[in-house]
Amino acid sequence: MSPNYTVPYDEIGAEKLEQLMRAFYKRVAVHPVLIPIFPEDLTETIRKQIQFQTQYLGGPNLFTEEHGHPMMRARHMNFAITPDAAQAWLECMHEAMDEVELAPKFREIYYKRLVLTAHHMINRPNIDEGEN
Ligand code: HEM
Repeated sequence: MSPNYTVPYDEIGAEKLEQLMRAFYKRVAVHPVLIPIFPEDLTETIRKQIQFQTQYLGGPNLFTEEHGHPMMRARHMNFAITPDAAQAWLECMHEAMDEVELAPKFREIYYKRLVLTAHHMINRPNIDEGEN
C-alpha cells in the first residue's frame, strides 16, 4: 500500500464539498431537463447529497448512519433517469466543478467516477427511444 495515499474526502475538505454541492443544485434547479424530476425545495436533497458524497469520497459514513444502506440505483427507481437526464446531471456537475475550481487532478478522478455512477443510475430510455 502506498504510504502517500490520501483519502479523497480529506483532499477536497468538508467546506469545498459543500460549496460544490450548492453550486451543483443551483444549476439542477434551473435545468430544463431536471426541473420536472427534482422537488422544488432542494434543501433536504442537498443535505442528503452532502452526506452521501462525504462517504462516497471515503469520509465518515454520514448517509448510511442516518438513512441506511445507500442502494443508490434502487433509491432512484421512482424517478425517470433517462440517458438525457444523466447527461444533464453531469453537465450541472461539470459546471459546478468549474465554479468552485477543484484541483485539476482531483477533479479528473472524481468526475470520471461520477460519470460511471450516473450511467449506472439510468433506468428508463429517452422518451423518443421507446419501444414503439
Ligand atoms: C444520473 C442522473 C441523476 C438524476 C437525474 C438524479 C435524480 C435524483 C432525484 C430526483 C432524487 C430525489 C431528490 C429528492 O427527492 O430529494 C435523487 C436523490 C439522490 N441522488 Fe440522484 N440523480 C442522479 C444521479 C446521482 C448520482 C450520480 C449520485 C451519486 C453519486 C446521486 C445521489 C443521490 C442521493 C444521495 C440522493 C438522496 C437519496 C435519498 O433521498 O435517500 N444521484 N437523485
